[in-house]
Amino acid sequence: MPTQQYDYGMIGLGTMGCNLVYNMCDHGYSVAGFDKDTAKVDALINEAEGKKVTGMHTVEDFFAALKSPKVIMLLVPAGKPVDAVVAELKPFLSKDDLVMDCGNSHFTDTDRRTTELIKEQIHFMGVGISGGEFGARHGPSIMPGGAKEAYERVAPMLKDISAKVNGEPCVTWLGPGSAGHYVKMVHNGIEYGMMQLIAEAYHLLKECTDLSNDDLHAIFVKWNEGRLKSYLIEITADIFAQQDDLTGNRLVDMILDTSKQNGTGQWTSQSAMDLYLPIPDIDAAVSARDLSAMKIERLAAEKILNWHKVNFTNTINELVDWLEQALYFSIITAYAQGMALMQRASKEFNYDLKLDLVASIWRGGCIIRSVLLEDILSAYTAEPGLANLMVNKDMALKLEGAQDGFRLAIKTGVNTGVPMPAMMASLAYYDGYRRGWLPANLVQAQRDYFGAHTYERTDRKGTFHTQWNQNAE
Ligand code: 6PG
Repeated sequence: MPTQQYDYGMIGLGTMGCNLVYNMCDHGYSVAGFDKDTAKVDALINEAEGKKVTGMHTVEDFFAALKSPKVIMLLVPAGKPVDAVVAELKPFLSKDDLVMDCGNSHFTDTDRRTTELIKEQIHFMGVGISGGEFGARHGPSIMPGGAKEAYERVAPMLKDISAKVNGEPCVTWLGPGSAGHYVKMVHNGIEYGMMQLIAEAYHLLKECTDLSNDDLHAIFVKWNEGRLKSYLIEITADIFAQQDDLTGNRLVDMILDTSKQNGTGQWTSQSAMDLYLPIPDIDAAVSARDLSAMKIERLAAEKILNWHKVNFTNTINELVDWLEQALYFSIITAYAQGMALMQRASKEFNYDLKLDLVASIWRGGCIIRSVLLEDILSAYTAEPGLANLMVNKDMALKLEGAQDGFRLAIKTGVNTGVPMPAMMASLAYYDGYRRGWLPANLVQAQRDYFGAHTYERTDRKGTFHTQWNQNAE
């Protein structure tokens, strides 16, 4: 076998890895793949017949097949598997080689791996890739971080394989270190938020009406023709139309109501808490998944906990209209929270993120792509240092225009006992953010009362403590 003939190496030949390999191959790049599972290697060899793609059964052969300096992409599960692969590769890597972790790794792991490998003059990049199997094959949104010079080496390839919007590639260098994986994590946090918001709209429609899945399909198709146009609304419309091969029912009705998660939403919430930055829509979405997983407890509680339902007496058309406004409003706040988190993290971790660029590369290929991102891009292009997306003049008008219906949708949820944690969090975020005064003076007084934690005053500078008239027993 001729050595050093392949441009890129790919480790991890699952569906995502293989689809990326074929995507790269379509654009003229040659790729050698490796996976511990020899069946996957054999499958790649068979399927890639006639293409500039091959599979290798040992790490030695894999390295021998790659041009130097080597560029190796990893698509293996986050966490220990990435460390195990890096440890296995390390003896074979030399100066100027580049390892790109294209999975959903935790950003702190990416920083640790980058620091370890650069000691040996080996570059490591954390590269977020979004778009699922289809995106990997036909054009994902790509979120690379790491050393800029390392990015420049792979930029032409990444641009070639990425999704395009108006001819512009959905990839750009985001910042040093773990910037790419941080942005991908927040992407996923927003993804959790949007999915939960859509699920809440579905729940309210189901509770208040007897709409069929065909009706729901039609409503989502219609919504997708307007300002809610987005990948997640589009696939939701498709989901309502899908038949179940086993029963002939609609598949959505046959799926158990417990959602799983791989951690990226939870990481987003954890990081936001660490940075004291509120992202309540996303927190609520993570908690909603946790609650959904408590199926046995919920079934038991259903027999014990009652509520006094107020029947829904408005029309279906009114409810659909309110929910369209509710989704529009709350999806804006979910993006706003994600953007605010990236802005805070950028300062804390010195990423120097450009939020207009982030919005730009999210417009195509990724799971949270939507027409709204065009407006978000305009907002950050006009005002790169915008304190919060919601206070951009156009966004503020959009929120104002959608809030009457949003409040009515939430009232309907309250009256009918439908849990709408993400929507309620969204409204509370808005109502809290737009208030110059919040009741935190009372919280400070309580802290000072029981713990002498001190407080600041409205009329003079300094910190104060009071001997409160302690009458409480
Ligand atoms: C993407 C997705 C992808 C994956 C999520 C799912 O951008 O293509 O976000 O990364 O499907 O990790 O996350 P959960 O399994 O936690 O829902």
